[in-house]
Amino acid sequence: MDAAEAVKTLLSPSATHDPVPAYAALRKYGPVLPVADGYYFVSGYAAVDGILRDAAMETYDIKRLDSRWDDWRDNKALELFADSMLRSNPPDHTRMRRLAAGVFTARRVGTLRAVIEEQVAEALDGLDGTADLMSELCYPLPIGVITALLGVPAEDRGQFRRLAEALTAVLEVRWTPEDEAKAHEAAVELEDYFIHLVAQKQREPGDDLTTALAKGGELSGRELLGNLMLLLVAGFETTTNLLGNGIVLLLDHGATPPQSCVEEILRFDSPVQLTERYATHAVQIGNVQIEEGAELVLLLGAANRDPERFEKADEFWPERPNNTPLSFGAGAHYCLGAPLARLEAQIALPALFRRFPELRLTGKPVRRPRMNLRGWDALPVTLGTPEHSVD
Ligand code: HEM
Repeated sequence: MDAAEAVKTLLSPSATHDPVPAYAALRKYGPVLPVADGYYFVSGYAAVDGILRDAAMETYDIKRLDSRWDDWRDNKALELFADSMLRSNPPDHTRMRRLAAGVFTARRVGTLRAVIEEQVAEALDGLDGTADLMSELCYPLPIGVITALLGVPAEDRGQFRRLAEALTAVLEVRWTPEDEAKAHEAAVELEDYFIHLVAQKQREPGDDLTTALAKGGELSGRELLGNLMLLLVAGFETTTNLLGNGIVLLLDHGATPPQSCVEEILRFDSPVQLTERYATHAVQIGNVQIEEGAELVLLLGAANRDPERFEKADEFWPERPNNTPLSFGAGAHYCLGAPLARLEAQIALPALFRRFPELRLTGKPVRRPRMNLRGWDALPVTLGTPEHSVD
């Protein structure tokens, strides 16, 4: 595959099966490759890491969106993301991030351990004979945990898989008009849901993130909704895919999961494959001169396979030493939910494999039609004889 073919593959909707050959092809042309006027693909670990930590490289915020598209506000999904910290730069980003980090603390994540253990046990108790592990474990667990954290009533959980799947289409590099319409509708529905939830929490405050973010008035109304949406959606689709990708990798490699395997799952089959930045100043990266205003697609999944950073980069090595993949990003936007996502996987994966040592796939799983948020649609398995005594 040459560079043009690799770029085409990664931009096409069918790039969901296995992007790794395209990543390897790109890497031959250096860590930073110009693919069109003012548009670059970055595949090297050091380059991606450096760009994510560079304050001159900004995320696509409202001012940037306004300068590029007249009608982006017609899409509620784009608007909600644009109001969140993910799509903000300093000083707004600093203010929102500080507030969210102040309420989403290590202590609060620690208190969720019992909630996670209970929900894992409940999901595993419900399994028998054959199952689709996406529907019966990988979706319900992260949805249950994030909704508990946000103070969303348990009876409302059922709708979030559908809404998040539609909404996150706009986090891909390319999307169809149909995807865009569905994302808009889902965002309208979710925004309405959160407007009611916030009003309810203002009447009856709880010990939850929605109450904590809503009080004090440090966020505008739009920012509050954008960040609640981000926490909900970022909080589970990605974690769902970490669990699903992990189950398939562990089954493929016959590995009994040690806790440290979570880092290697993140590296080897990253639930988030890319993010984007634009250059507010001209910069030199290696021997490539990036002009002011250039757009950079940062291929986290490719950086995680960079042989200059990782020994035997294409091998799944559960206890790999010095393993710091870029799957949660780096720098100012480093994933706020990383400790929670790790904890969920560190509890759920060993528990699943301990309870069902004979777990096997019954068919070839199918990838979701997404390049960026990479995961499986369904994981059909037979469970074998459970080991009831060990959990
Ligand atoms: C395996 C699971 C997860 C993965 C792979 C993941 C990945 C990422 C990545 C790559 C970013 C940075 C994007 C960028 O720099 O452009 C990010 C940001 C973020 N993530 Fe996660 N995430 C995961 C789980 C979670 C969870 C569980 C939550 C919340 C409960 C969460 C909340 C956030 C938030 C709020 C941000 C924005 C931070 C900021 O802009 O300062 N994520 N995530």
